[in-house]
Amino acid sequence: MLEDTQLVWVRDAAEGYIQGRITEIGAKEFEVTPTDRKYPKRTCHFDDIHSSCDGPQDHDDNCELMLLNEATFLDNLKTRYYKDKIYTYVANILIAVNPYREIKELYAPDTIKKYNGRSLGELPPHVFAIADKAIRDMRVYKLSQSIIVSGESGAGKTESTKYLLKYLCYSHDSAGPIETKILDANPVLEAFGNAKTTRNNNSSRFGKFIEVHYDAKCQVVGGYISHYLLEKSRICTQSAEERNYHVFYMLLAGAPQQLRDKLSLGKPDDYRYLSGCTQYFANAKTEQLIPGSQKSKNHQQKGPLKDPIIDDYQHFHNLDKALGRLGLSDTEKLGIYSLVAAVLHLGNIAFEEIPDDVRGGCQVSEASEQSLTITSGLLGVDQTELRTALVSRVMQSKGGGFKGTVIMVPLKIYEASNARDALAKAIYSRLFDRIVGLINQSIPFQASNFYIGVLDIAGFEYFTVNSFEQFCINYCNEKLQKFFNDNILKNEQELYKREGLNVPEITFTDNQDIIELIEAKSNGIFTLLDEESKLPKPSYSHFTAEVHKSWANHYRLGLPRSSRLKAHRTLRDEEGFLVRHFAGAVCYNTEQFIEKNNDALHASLEGLVQECDNPLLQTLFPSGSSTSVRGKLNFISVGSKFKTQLGELMEKLEQNGTNFIRCIKPNSKMIDRQFEGSLALAQLKCSGTISVLELMEHGYPSRVLFADLYSMYKSVLPPELVSLPARTFCEAMFQSLNLSAKDFKFGITKVFFRPGKFVEFDRIMRSDPENMLAIVAKVKKWLIRSRWVKSALGALCVIKLRNRIIYRNKCVLIAQRIARGFLARKQHRPRYQGIGKINKIRTNTLKTIEIASGLKMGREEIISGVNDIYRQIDDAIMKIKMNPRITQREMDSMYTVVMANMNKLTVDLNTKLKEQQQAEEQERLRKIQEALEAERAAKEAEEQRQREEIENKRLKAEMETRRKAAEAQRLRQEEEDRRAALALQEQLEKEAKDDAKYRQQLEQERRDHELALRLANESNGQVEDSPPVIRKSENVRAQQQALGKQKYDLSKWKYSELRDAINTSCDIELLEACRQEFHRRLKVYHAWKAKNRKRTTMDENERAPRSVMEAAFKQPPLVQPIQEIVTAQHRYFRIPFMRANAPDNTKRGLWYAHFDGQWIARQMELHADKPPILLVAGTDDMQMCELSLEETGLTRKRGAEILEHEFNREWERNGGKAYKNLGAKPNGPAAAMQKQQ
Ligand SMILES: Nc1ncnc2c1ncn2[C@@H]1O[C@H](COP(=O)(O)OP(=O)(O)O)[C@@H](O)[C@H]1O
Ligand SMILES: [Mg+2]
Repeated sequence: MLEDTQLVWVRDAAEGYIQGRITEIGAKEFEVTPTDRKYPKRTCHFDDIHSSCDGPQDHDDNCELMLLNEATFLDNLKTRYYKDKIYTYVANILIAVNPYREIKELYAPDTIKKYNGRSLGELPPHVFAIADKAIRDMRVYKLSQSIIVSGESGAGKTESTKYLLKYLCYSHDSAGPIETKILDANPVLEAFGNAKTTRNNNSSRFGKFIEVHYDAKCQVVGGYISHYLLEKSRICTQSAEERNYHVFYMLLAGAPQQLRDKLSLGKPDDYRYLSGCTQYFANAKTEQLIPGSQKSKNHQQKGPLKDPIIDDYQHFHNLDKALGRLGLSDTEKLGIYSLVAAVLHLGNIAFEEIPDDVRGGCQVSEASEQSLTITSGLLGVDQTELRTALVSRVMQSKGGGFKGTVIMVPLKIYEASNARDALAKAIYSRLFDRIVGLINQSIPFQASNFYIGVLDIAGFEYFTVNSFEQFCINYCNEKLQKFFNDNILKNEQELYKREGLNVPEITFTDNQDIIELIEAKSNGIFTLLDEESKLPKPSYSHFTAEVHKSWANHYRLGLPRSSRLKAHRTLRDEEGFLVRHFAGAVCYNTEQFIEKNNDALHASLEGLVQECDNPLLQTLFPSGSSTSVRGKLNFISVGSKFKTQLGELMEKLEQNGTNFIRCIKPNSKMIDRQFEGSLALAQLKCSGTISVLELMEHGYPSRVLFADLYSMYKSVLPPELVSLPARTFCEAMFQSLNLSAKDFKFGITKVFFRPGKFVEFDRIMRSDPENMLAIVAKVKKWLIRSRWVKSALGALCVIKLRNRIIYRNKCVLIAQRIARGFLARKQHRPRYQGIGKINKIRTNTLKTIEIASGLKMGREEIISGVNDIYRQIDDAIMKIKMNPRITQREMDSMYTVVMANMNKLTVDLNTKLKEQQQAEEQERLRKIQEALEAERAAKEAEEQRQREEIENKRLKAEMETRRKAAEAQRLRQEEEDRRAALALQEQLEKEAKDDAKYRQQLEQERRDHELALRLANESNGQVEDSPPVIRKSENVRAQQQALGKQKYDLSKWKYSELRDAINTSCDIELLEACRQEFHRRLKVYHAWKAKNRKRTTMDENERAPRSVMEAAFKQPPLVQPIQEIVTAQHRYFRIPFMRANAPDNTKRGLWYAHFDGQWIARQMELHADKPPILLVAGTDDMQMCELSLEETGLTRKRGAEILEHEFNREWERNGGKAYKNLGAKPNGPAAAMQKQQ
């Protein structure tokens, strides 16, 4: 077991993440034991484990979290969700979790007022804050803004959009008539465009971009709504539990009896087009108000559907009033209701075979005659014509005349039914277009300066059966995701790079390849589909086969049988295709792609409605617009229309400032107070918010150009500030506002602010003169102060400099003196030593004179000889004195000459003495002789010593040259090593890249799997068990190869088993292998820890001095060679270290390490301010340095290695127990791992 007690988050299939502790370090994974015993133990890859804080987190902005990882992020959202704080930021992106219940006062008028003009971050996160930011940005940057609301179906996009609009229209005290009309558009749009689905009771079945237009004074002047992709199939059929558009039920439940009579309306189960769910939405009160005759059987049995915001009875009345406010007269309203009713009745027209008809035609069935009558009445067409148009098709023969002969081709039953449905869809969808048009007419604007657009478009969709609608929606979502990626992740990183902010890069999945797959001009799926439609006999299977052929082997496209979901795998290859979307794989069933891509009516029906008496219907089908006239080859398909529309939308988005709201669905049951972690996590990942979090760990969400900021203030600057360069002005401004240096950073052209500093940012960006003047005053004050401080500092510096000059002057004099003395001594020492030597002879002569004085004869001769020698000595001395450049040899020769004369004289004297005092004098002379001999010997010894000194000097010089040569050799070697390391580095980088790609694919696989699982849960389907691993990276392979070469495969061994083996095994090779594996795991563990550490404790928890760790990182990671096992050698090291964050006097310390072979056995830290830290391998592994001796580079550090007794002395002095060398295995590896007990 491990002693690591730190809490971690670990992946869980249901909760997303759960808390636990690491209990085992495996070869490639960690084992984690959850703190809550109800979850089983699990082994996970390191990437699925993240550090955890101790308590629950609650931060307004996720970027403020101590640990920026997806697990804490999720935990923060969850904690806040249960506290009813449904909004949270990630930098300036708002995350909204759907509460599925009303939260008191959250959207009250007072709340709107509170958020007015307040910066992001000043008040708790809210959609209102985003709306207000959009308004302020529009004002400051003079740029239109978009707010992109995204999320899955039921995540709360439409609700958020409503609140945004409410804010945009109401933020200025009271709403005027235009604002009211913009707000009125919503109930109308929802009545016609929303329906109950299994995922959302009020699901919008169309996308919309609502623009609120402003004039130069930022007053609302009008609006414009663009809509996209109304789901048409719903008009005719719905899945079980789903309903048709709300308006049908509203009309049935809420219309007054008189109106219902006029439209001949009954109850929902009377109509085939309402065959899905036939219950109304009602509350207890309105349930009473709906007449029993209007309720379906199902409704009467089960009672009404309930939703706090939907009520069919009440909403009919709201709709009626809203239409009135949009300026529609009662007749016009009746026209609309009539068409809605006509669609219902049209659906009830059924067909039957004409008995005995050879052409296989059909007729309107007997039972539906009445429906036919009502429909033709409501549509204002002739009943017979309608009948004919429904059961036959007009065809022009090619041969005859200008227009050809018109032939009526009878239709088969299914063809007639299709024609009927096509008519119903055409009427309803054009009615919807018309209604949007009416709304737009009621909110016109003449002169608009800017607008704020809110985009609410269906989120990513996937069902068991996915058709053309899902394909279009998911394509749109890919485009929006790409926009998000480019806008937030890509451009942002490029900007940081350009501005030199040194923010580490993050990777994200680029989905451009999926977009290409769908929209490529030559062979994109849309193009292939349009081309298929133009063929004489289009078929979906041919189209599908073409798709597979064109994109064979493309990672993003697959066959249905590659789906995870069993239900999809039953599709044949030509019945569908699978697209790996950014959010997961979706399998599309192509059967109806061709029909759905072509919304043209056949000619006879089109002619019929164009010629009708119903004025509203006439405007919906103006004559001359017929598609049949344009012909098959020129038709505009639904797909290409949508592509164009989307292109225009993207263009708008690209020109505007953007704001993002990411809506999150907390559970799939649509209930409150339930948070399914894994569901939320999947959405966060797919929406790119996790990547943003990663980016914002070091990123800067708000910024402004120095130049812009400066010109904003220019008009209010006093003359002394106007001349400042823009950058200096900005610097002065931030200094004067006392902003912390950590919160902002100066780039090359812009200043950037850290996440969560919106308040500070907005403070400088507020353009009201009052605020600006206050800031300018501060800048002025700061400038004066800083200039004063600067000049005082300047004076101090000058004084310091003067003192230094004086001091240096003194020092120079001393140095000069010493140098001169040295030089003089060096030059003159031989001379005065020579003089001394010669002078010594004079002293010797005294004796000669003394002896000579005892001579009876020849004394004068000797005396004059002596005097001669005196003269010679004086001459020699004079010569030496006169010639400062005299050489040693000259002096020596002079000396020898004098000495020879002296000797001669002495000989002379001797002979004379001999003659005089032969016996006794001889003895004396011998003594003198001896003395002279000794002196000569001393002189020779002196000369020998001098020669040796010279020889030593020569040897030292030789040594120095040798050292220099070695040094040069070392440098060359280092250069070579560096080159080799670079090559290795390159290779490793390539491998890392491959690995990243592999991980991305794995992540995609995981998303596909999760998606399939969710769908399977909803539909009781079955899913393949686990994501298959697709490819092994080079890295892993290399490692495995290396392992294969080794004798022991230790990858399955437990951490504790490794340690036991190290302590007990006698097999030296096994021991070494165990130690290597043990330290490799430690390394992985420490790398994980380093990646996951808290942001405030960057410098703690280091296991070796930073210099050592850095040396190890600078070295290319060694693929551990299979090391020779030599009897381990003990080596001891000592190096000083500095703690960066400690106060000055406690910064320094000493680090001691004892290596037993390649691995550390003991280590000790000595600090100035705390007790020494002693660690022994086998006991304190988790805190010890995990690097091998080679990696630490200690052996290459000069002076780092110390002697064993030096280490032990220090160790024992600090309380370490004596280190026992096991007798049985002297120097054995286990000795290093022994427990210190
Ligand atoms: N902010 C909110 N407060 C309360 N309920 C909400 C909120 N947002 C969404 N809901 C609930 O969730 C349902 C689905 O929301 P909706 O906006 O229609 O989802 P979407 O448009 O994303 O499909 C709504 O009908 C409502 O009941
Ligand atoms: Mg919606």
